Amino acid sequence: MIELQHLTKTYKTRTGEVHAIEDINLTIEDGDIFGIIGLSGAGKSTLIRCINFLEVPTSGKVLLDGVDLGALTYKELLNTRRSMSMIFQGFNLLSQRNVLKNVTYPLEIAKVPREEAIARARELLAIVGLSDKEKAYPSQLSGGQKQRVAIARALATNPRVLLCDEATSALDPTTTQSILDLLKHINKTMGVTIIVITHEMKVIDSICDKVAVLDKSHIVECGRVRDVFTAPKSDIARELILPMARTLPDAIEGTKLRLVFDGEDARQPFIAGLIMECGIPVNILFADTRESDGAVYGQMLIQLPDNEDTLARVRAYLDAKGITYRKEV
Ligand SMILES: Nc1ncnc2c1ncn2[C@@H]1O[C@H](COP(=O)(O)OP(=O)(O)OP(=O)(O)O)[C@@H](O)[C@H]1O
Ligand SMILES: [Mg+2]
Repeated sequence: MIELQHLTKTYKTRTGEVHAIEDINLTIEDGDIFGIIGLSGAGKSTLIRCINFLEVPTSGKVLLDGVDLGALTYKELLNTRRSMSMIFQGFNLLSQRNVLKNVTYPLEIAKVPREEAIARARELLAIVGLSDKEKAYPSQLSGGQKQRVAIARALATNPRVLLCDEATSALDPTTTQSILDLLKHINKTMGVTIIVITHEMKVIDSICDKVAVLDKSHIVECGRVRDVFTAPKSDIARELILPMARTLPDAIEGTKLRLVFDGEDARQPFIAGLIMECGIPVNILFADTRESDGAVYGQMLIQLPDNEDTLARVRAYLDAKGITYRKEV
């Protein structure tokens, strides 16, 4: 378990102090896939770097299974850090080393015998699906393949925690999904706790169990993804969840409902049903839904005529279909 207690990091710059993170309190349980989401400059990278003490916090504590990282000697800290690996947006591979040697690198540092290191690296390359690339150099790989090598390297020392700082931000949507699937697989099969930092709600939605929303150096809300997703309390969470809604003109009249789909049967034509069964003109303002195995996921913002009777009928219809919705203001 990782506990962050009153974690604060202040940078002193020539133009004054920058409070990158302030009074962060979080508990991350073993086996969680925990997301931290926020806009650029919110303090996400600072927070994740403080978790493994790459950045020494100005005040507050990081406890790993009750052990206060700030109380360790440098040598103890190096040892502990081996159980917390990190991957980055820019992959950070060693360009002079081939794939296999990138993966064995942390094992060399840990003085693992060569044969053993190579066997372990091959095992990991098989897990990330790159067994045929062990002799390739980073420049010969695609972005997704580079991130797979970085993941294999991060897992080489058998970490208990994997910290991911915008690990999929440089990748296209399909490659992003394949990397997220791989992270989920690693979490499930190896029991590695994963902390994911991102500015994309899709990443959180796709793999995280819990999420904390970071805004201007503070955690503004935290909870199960499903709860935050369906009922965001902070303005910033609403903006991150429905980015397009922000660009809608304020003057849009009528009642706005946000529908949340979480695996509903995709064969049911909800909107057509609303229009035909309830006889209500429905306008789709925004939709970000996807289908997977006949189930629909995502969100939709619809506009209805502004009267109580209409709303009551729509509510009854959605309740009967088991669709989650919120009235937007
Ligand atoms: N080494 C540093 N020295 C001074 N200020 C810093 C330093 N690192 C970060 N900051 C400042 O701290 C704040 C938070 O930065 P951080 O990199 O943690 O944000 P972020 O949420 O990761 O942003 P992004 O999504 O753009 O990566 C910013 O105002 C940034 O300018
Ligand atoms: Mg960052």
